Amino acid sequence: MRIKFGYEVGTGEPVYVPLHHTIITGITQLAGKTTALEGMIIRSGLPALVFRVKRGESSFTDARTIPPVFRERTDWRFIEALIEAIMREPQRWNRAQIIKATRGARTLRDIWDNVKKELARARKGSVLESIYTNLDAYFEIVIPKIESLNLAPSLDLKPGVNVVDMEGWEPELQSLIIASCIEEVASRHQGVVTVIPEAWEFVPAARKTPVKLAAERLARTGAAVRNFLFLDSQNLMGVDANIRSQLGVWILGVQRYEHEVERTVKAIPLPPSRKPRPHEVMNLRLGEFYVVTMKQVVKAYAQPAWLPDHAAIKVAKGELTPEEARDKFYPKLPPELQEIKRIIAKLEARI
Ligand SMILES: Nc1ncnc2c1ncn2[C@@H]1O[C@H](COP(=O)(O)OP(=O)(O)OP(=O)(O)O)[C@@H](O)[C@H]1O
Ligand SMILES: [Mg+2]
Repeated sequence: MRIKFGYEVGTGEPVYVPLHHTIITGITQLAGKTTALEGMIIRSGLPALVFRVKRGESSFTDARTIPPVFRERTDWRFIEALIEAIMREPQRWNRAQIIKATRGARTLRDIWDNVKKELARARKGSVLESIYTNLDAYFEIVIPKIESLNLAPSLDLKPGVNVVDMEGWEPELQSLIIASCIEEVASRHQGVVTVIPEAWEFVPAARKTPVKLAAERLARTGAAVRNFLFLDSQNLMGVDANIRSQLGVWILGVQRYEHEVERTVKAIPLPPSRKPRPHEVMNLRLGEFYVVTMKQVVKAYAQPAWLPDHAAIKVAKGELTPEEARDKFYPKLPPELQEIKRIIAKLEARI
């Protein structure tokens, strides 16, 4: 299967990408990553799972909102990833302690109880004391919230975009929910596109996180059952190398720093003739991307979901700027109405 991405810059010829694990990169706001992904997903007609994590995100506003699932994981691997995410440091030296804290635990609350006990016992000023203190503070944030969430027994994914709306939630909670939903897709669904927002944050290169554990599994096993990951990320190098190695499509938007662009281009496992040049990536405009696959490298204008073909072709040919296209075609609702629409969608998801 292939998905229409947009139109080639210059010629206006349609550009397609194969359905595969995909990353889209570029500077915040100036690239148009989320808009490009939204267009691709809507045109693909596939069921897509999307997480809204930022305030004021202008994409996916019309989508169906669904409640998330949360299945508690209390195994030490998961807790280790959790601690690495909180402490921002590898935890393998503390593994024995982590295993101890998870022993016999059936819920995160059980682990929290264990942590409190261990904390009371830990030597003042020790590394363990610091870990348990952080873990205690973390559980204090997430556990009461999780217990008060409207959770679903399973993910109710329908063709089109399905949004788990976590706008305004603590990042810790967002991370746990994203991880749990991805695991649910990996274990119970087929033919679903899962979009990971801010991938450099949720599946970072340096440390484990709950989302990373889940995403690695989906990246590794997903293609066989046509479950694919779309990573939305300001950069490529900040994303976990393991997951990067599974990608088949790289969609590169504008970057500012030459060093970053060079590393990005270098990291794509294709011969040099298949890759764009760094200065080319630095000069991309809003909505313009280098679309890199095993078969092609093409500079293309990403067609937003709200932009009709004839106008998108005009932008690709340089007869209309992306900004003009947006002013003319972006469905304008005053912000208050957008907010009301979102609240209604959220309420509907609760019913
Ligand atoms: N292809 C496009 N044509 C016209 N306007 C676009 C296009 N892509 C994005 N825009 C507009 O540019 C703005 C930023 O887009 P978007 O939110 O997709 O960027 P982003 O790269 O995802 O940014 P961030 O990293 O902050 O999430 C939005 O107002 C959007 O409507
Ligand atoms: Mg975005």
